[in-house]
Amino acid sequence: MSPGNTLLRVEDLSVRARLGSRVFNIVEQASFSLRRGEVLGLVGESGSGKSVTCRAILRLLPGANLSIPEGRILFDGRDFTAMSEADIRAERGASVGMIFQNPASHLDPVMSIGDQVAESIVLHRGVSRAEAWGQAIDLLRQVGIPDPARRARGYAHEFSGGMRQRAMIAAALACDPQLLIADEPTTALDVTVQAQILRLLLDLRDKRGLSIILVTHDLGVVAQACDSIAVMYGGRIVETGPKRDVLKAPFHPYTARLIACQPNHSLAAQGAGSGLLPSIPGQPPSAGDMPPGCRFHPRCDLAQARCRESMPELVTRAPHHLAACPVTAEVQP
Ligand SMILES: Nc1ncnc2c1ncn2[C@@H]1O[C@H](COP(=O)(O)OP(=O)(O)OP(=O)(O)O)[C@@H](O)[C@H]1O
Ligand SMILES: [Mg+2]
Repeated sequence: MSPGNTLLRVEDLSVRARLGSRVFNIVEQASFSLRRGEVLGLVGESGSGKSVTCRAILRLLPGANLSIPEGRILFDGRDFTAMSEADIRAERGASVGMIFQNPASHLDPVMSIGDQVAESIVLHRGVSRAEAWGQAIDLLRQVGIPDPARRARGYAHEFSGGMRQRAMIAAALACDPQLLIADEPTTALDVTVQAQILRLLLDLRDKRGLSIILVTHDLGVVAQACDSIAVMYGGRIVETGPKRDVLKAPFHPYTARLIACQPNHSLAAQGAGSGLLPSIPGQPPSAGDMPPGCRFHPRCDLAQARCRESMPELVTRAPHHLAACPVTAEVQP
């Protein structure tokens, strides 16, 4: 892996929340990197910090009480954490596009879909309105919207969920970004449409050399679409590495539990039609009330006294494969 091929390197990124007199980190020392054309799956239970991490990359934090006290976000040689507000604003869309879980709430209900895509093109490419409209229709065609010249004049409420998500993708691609951050882009969609959207993202990766951070709850999606994976728990990355290695031989007990909770895994283990899926016993910790030491220890079968006492570091366990669990490191060094 040559360093010149790295597009994004997130180093020790923390996001801090202030609530009254309380100050705590909701993302802590997250580090990961992404090569050009790579698809990274960011997974973890609800509340683990996936969305906050994604938004922090663009310094679009979801609350005025949040800040980035430490860390670097190196994108193509530039440090997003060190930029002025005007400079980072110019990077949004132009370098990094973002799509959200619920496209309905991020599309303007009173502006036609074509105008929304065109607006972004005018803003970033400085072309005329008429030219931008033509380019918008072309983008809508590229993301698989049928009869785009006609549909471009339609509004979000006239689009199905899958078509709205395609429109969001077109808007995110309007300025030809190198990185697309897709925060649970398929969660609200039915399975067939989910598969179509995933195929579209991979197609865009192949055609444009786009790098993608794909946030998902679904390890099946990671298995299907991603090259690498980063697993978050309690605001920290607990394991990261090539998809195949992580899914086949996880080093962190949390990753192993997540894999055991996937439908395919349980069906294979228990025979088809076996009813309820297993889930990880206990609740994930809440931000602001983290257990000491390893954040997973209260739910971990392998936990020892030291897991309660000190925070395990992410260490390399296999080529490009890191995990933060000293207990499994002794069993499988
Ligand atoms: N403005 C805020 N102030 C305090 N805490 C916040 C704020 N915004 C988010 N959080 C907390 O940060 C944590 C991480 O939230 P985040 O939305 O990143 O989780 P997530 O992994 O994306 O979850 P989901 O899978 O449900 O989307 C949560 O515990 C959330 O309550
Ligand atoms: Mg989220």
